[in-house]
Amino acid sequence: MDIKAVSGDVASLKTSAVVVNLFEGVKRPGGATGAVDRALGGAISQLIAEGEIKGKKGEVVTIHTLGKIPPARVTVAGLGKDKDFNADVVRWVMGEVVRHLGKMGIKQAATIVHGAGIGDLPTADATRALVEGAILGSYSFKRHKSKNDNIGTLVELQIVEKDASKLPDIESGIQMGRTVAEAANFARDLVNEPANLLTPSDLANVAKQMAQEVGLEVTILEKPDMEKLGMGALLGVAKGSVQPPKFIVLRYWGDKANSSKVLGLVGKGITFDTGGISLKPAEGMSDMKGDMAGGASVVAAMKAIGELKPKINVTGLVPASENMPDAAAQKPGDLVKALNGKTIEVENTDAEGRLLLADALSYGRSLGLSPMIDVATLTGAMKAALGNVCTGGFTNHQPTFEALLRASAKTGEKVWQFPLYEEYKEMNHSEVADMKNTGGRFAGSITAAHFLGEFAEDTPWVHLDIAGTARSDSTRGHLAKGATAVPMRTLVQLALDMASG
Ligand code: BES
Ligand code: MN
Ligand code: ZN
Repeated sequence: MDIKAVSGDVASLKTSAVVVNLFEGVKRPGGATGAVDRALGGAISQLIAEGEIKGKKGEVVTIHTLGKIPPARVTVAGLGKDKDFNADVVRWVMGEVVRHLGKMGIKQAATIVHGAGIGDLPTADATRALVEGAILGSYSFKRHKSKNDNIGTLVELQIVEKDASKLPDIESGIQMGRTVAEAANFARDLVNEPANLLTPSDLANVAKQMAQEVGLEVTILEKPDMEKLGMGALLGVAKGSVQPPKFIVLRYWGDKANSSKVLGLVGKGITFDTGGISLKPAEGMSDMKGDMAGGASVVAAMKAIGELKPKINVTGLVPASENMPDAAAQKPGDLVKALNGKTIEVENTDAEGRLLLADALSYGRSLGLSPMIDVATLTGAMKAALGNVCTGGFTNHQPTFEALLRASAKTGEKVWQFPLYEEYKEMNHSEVADMKNTGGRFAGSITAAHFLGEFAEDTPWVHLDIAGTARSDSTRGHLAKGATAVPMRTLVQLALDMASG
């Protein structure tokens, strides 16, 4: 989608549709919507009076101008209640708007910056959210369809502003929004890609190519490297697969003067999770092609960070493997020794994510990364607890968690904190090893987080369990059915926030 800023009056643009907005409950629109309404002889206020336009969040109504003004159509986007308004509403509404226009076959449209006037958002932030919504909302995963049954998509979007002095802010909002949203769509493609077409080797190749394009340092640790290092927990998971594991290391240096200060992002990269010998039931197993969503969000965040170039050092780690049952696969009850020397009894081979991440967190510590944020589709229990609305978060360092929460408030990717009381840790007790990889029937997300904490040790650390939020079961707002890329935008925001102090 071609997106550009133009200065002028929406009511006099020659385009297929101009997008204005309305808060719920407003009877007489003001601002740009009011100007268009007057130019149309009060058509919009009349439709409001008749109840056809209500301004509910995500409501989109298009009316034809029949030659009264240069734009052929006016689209009124509902912003919902004034008191609930924020940048995430803009993102959501623009997702609805671009799909609505696309379905109508409209290729070219113009929009005002929703929320910059009455909504009180800074112009750059409102523009960024608008652009993110437009690009995220037009996403669909159709690359393997031989017939192009795509619904139409908008090709050109002009962002119109009367006040020319605001154009630089709009330009920077466009650039930021585009970079972040395109990286999110890149992550979504990786998550939606079937596992036979995205093995650990494929994921490593994609990361390598991205790194070369963006100018990041990239290293792929191969199985012999992992053996030499002693990544026994990761290697145990990989034993059941004919696909060799890959450990992706992406490094961005934006603050070379402080090269010992590096933010670490760690993502689970299970390209398919059958459960291993502790085999999962058939129903819904195909969703487990997305068990590398955490890894995809880290690879994509590194892409956006490499493009936005904040003044901070960031390293992304993605341990990648399949989790398969096989004659050579690890078995329930097996014992493995992790990179930091701790021994683990593998009670259940389906609790593989924490094994992989254990070695990744230890490796991150050996590189001196701090703080470390890990992201994983880790537990079905998290999906049961929070559904697909928000991500569950855990930490051993409250200030880092607060920084992440502030970032997530800006991106709209909700995070809710879970407790890590010591009592939960005892549930990972093993008779034969330092710990088991499962904590029993209850509090499964918390015992999993405690397990990871044994490998983060005293490094400030946040764990994000995205089992529920990595996928959406429907298309709405800026979400499309399938991968969400959560929490990629928040990881990027955290890096930007940390860079600016
Ligand atoms: N990848 C799954 C978790 C998952 C489940 C993610 C549903 C997304 C949707 C993970 O590897 C897993 O299998 N976890 C087990 C852990 C259990 C064996 C302790 C689970 O949650 O059942
Ligand atoms: Mn599993
Ligand atoms: Zn898994």
